Amino acid sequence: MEHYKLLYFIHAALAVLVSLGLIAHMVILWKAWRRADAGVLQQKLKRTRQISLPLLAVLALLLPLSGWWLVHLAGWPLGQLWLLASSVLFLLLVPLGLLLGGRLRAWQALGEQPAPPRLPRFALAYAGLILLVLVAIMGLMGAKPV
Ligand code: HEM
Repeated sequence: MEHYKLLYFIHAALAVLVSLGLIAHMVILWKAWRRADAGVLQQKLKRTRQISLPLLAVLALLLPLSGWWLVHLAGWPLGQLWLLASSVLFLLLVPLGLLLGGRLRAWQALGEQPAPPRLPRFALAYAGLILLVLVAIMGLMGAKPV
């Protein structure tokens, strides 16, 4: 049982870290865009794409791994609604993550040129959808509808 508790803590901490990391980067990039300092914005975009996004993706991928391990340890029946629904929702994060990555790449490729407002707005919308899906999964994990 101790093993379960530790894994449970790691799983929940990962969920919080991924969500907070995403929010932090949304705020950082949005503020940098508003400041209209092309140099600062490019630097933030570069760091986000090269370091933060890959790191967040790895942390996010650890969620289903630790989650299914918890299921295995606790012996939950696999057909429960909360497990199935959260797995489907998690799969949704893959295309959304790729779309977000694509927008950020296009934004960075503009270099010092000002971005058309559509570009950061789409990036924000994808990030917002990812956050929404994460919150929905956390809701399912907490409520556990069978
Ligand atoms: C998709 C595969 C996943 C599976 C199979 C899974 C499975 C589980 C299991 C078995 C628990 C422990 C329940 C308990 O002992 O009460 C749990 C808790 C939790 N999971 Fe997941 N999980 C998955 C993905 C996720 C994701 C993607 C997130 C984040 C968005 C997440 C967030 C949480 C949270 C916050 C808890 C603690 C909930 C609470 O007890 O209030 N899980 N999960």
